[in-house]
Order: sequence, then C-alpha cells, then structure tokens
Amino acid sequence: MAATANPALDVAGLVLRIKELEEQHLAFRNSLVCAFNQMLDLKDINTGVHSTRLAEWALRVARKLDMPEESLYQVEVAALLHDIGKIGVPDAILKKAGPLTPEERSLINRHPEYSWSILRLFPGLEEASLYALHHHESMDGTGYPAGLKGSDIPLVSRIICVIDAFDAMVSNRCYRQGLPHSEAISRLLRSSGTQFDPGVLQAFIPIAEQEAADVFAAAGTSMTAVL
Ligand SMILES: [Fe+2]
Repeated sequence: MAATANPALDVAGLVLRIKELEEQHLAFRNSLVCAFNQMLDLKDINTGVHSTRLAEWALRVARKLDMPEESLYQVEVAALLHDIGKIGVPDAILKKAGPLTPEERSLINRHPEYSWSILRLFPGLEEASLYALHHHESMDGTGYPAGLKGSDIPLVSRIICVIDAFDAMVSNRCYRQGLPHSEAISRLLRSSGTQFDPGVLQAFIPIAEQEAADVFAAAGTSMTAVL
C-alpha cells in the first residue's frame, strides 16, 4: 500500500515554491527595468546626470514627503523610465539644436503617452506607467497630455517633473552649456505654483543645494565663490 503523503510537508513545499517563483518574477522584472534603462543610455535619451542619480533624488523627495515605503519601487521605476517613450520620437527631432516647428513640438509632446503605452505592459508597473504619463503636467493645468491641475496630478509625477527639469537645466547638451545650479534653482522657484508643486520644491531644493555643494567640493572650489 502506498504511504500517505504528509499534508503539512506538501503545504510547506508549496509555500517554498511560491516564494521561489515570486523571487524569480521580481528578478525578471528588475532585469527588464535595468535593460530598458540601459537602452535609454545607449540612445542618449537620459540627460547629463546619470539616471540612477535621478532615481535617487526622486526617492529622497518621496521619503521627505512621507510616501509609504511600499510605493517607493514604483517611484524609482518611474524616475528611471519616464522618458522611455522618446524612443518613438525621431532622433533628428529629439536632438535638433535649433527651434522646433509646431509639428515637431507636438510629436515630442507625445512621449509621455508612448512611455505609458510601454510601461503599462509590464506586469506590476501599471502605477509607474501612470506616473510617466503625467510627468509633463503643470500645476496650473497648462501641461500635457491631460492638462491636469494641482493635486489631480499624481504626486510622483509632480516629483519627476521637478527633478527632471532641474537635471535638464544643469546638464550640458551638445548644443548648449548647462546652467549653474543657483540659476536652475531660481528658475524652479520662479515657476513654483504654476509649473511646479511648491511642496515638492521645498523638499527638493535642499537636495539640489547639497548637490551643488558636492560638485563644487569635488572641483576644489567653494559655493560662495560662484554664487
Ligand atoms: Fe519627459
């Protein structure tokens, strides 16, 4: 007669197997995120500050704004991959040095929707895809693609909007020199409440100032000599 299986052992084995599968799933998802991020680097779509630094800023701001720990993975992914839709915009437009025509501008402005359409296909990244969709909205409703206003814009999108603008302003591009940190901070503040969320700015500006101090320290000069 066959021995009766021990149900307790079966359950323990199943729990172990489920855990293994969950870990495999997370590892696979993380690899996909890293691979897409690598692709953005290769396409030169990420701006000057390395994209991991952008994600680090987003996480620091999110923590300062008391976002729950379990939401931070989505924040990190959205900060890394919010511009992934730019792969759908021709390089000749993305890297154009001169002014854009209205048609070119409207094509570039489609990139948040393209980002959403890519990220939403990742199981478990639906939230991050929505944050990417709204990262060019403005507090006064003049942004795109949906013209959302104020707190209707997801908080994570408001965070990405600020750190992305700062990164773009201070980064050197092939056709222009990056702005000094102090000037970039002044410009953020000038658009407080219209483009940028004042609460997010309040959380981010000390981080940006620290960043400037670190850059100057690394260059062997001082903030006061330059500001
Ligand atoms: Fe963008």
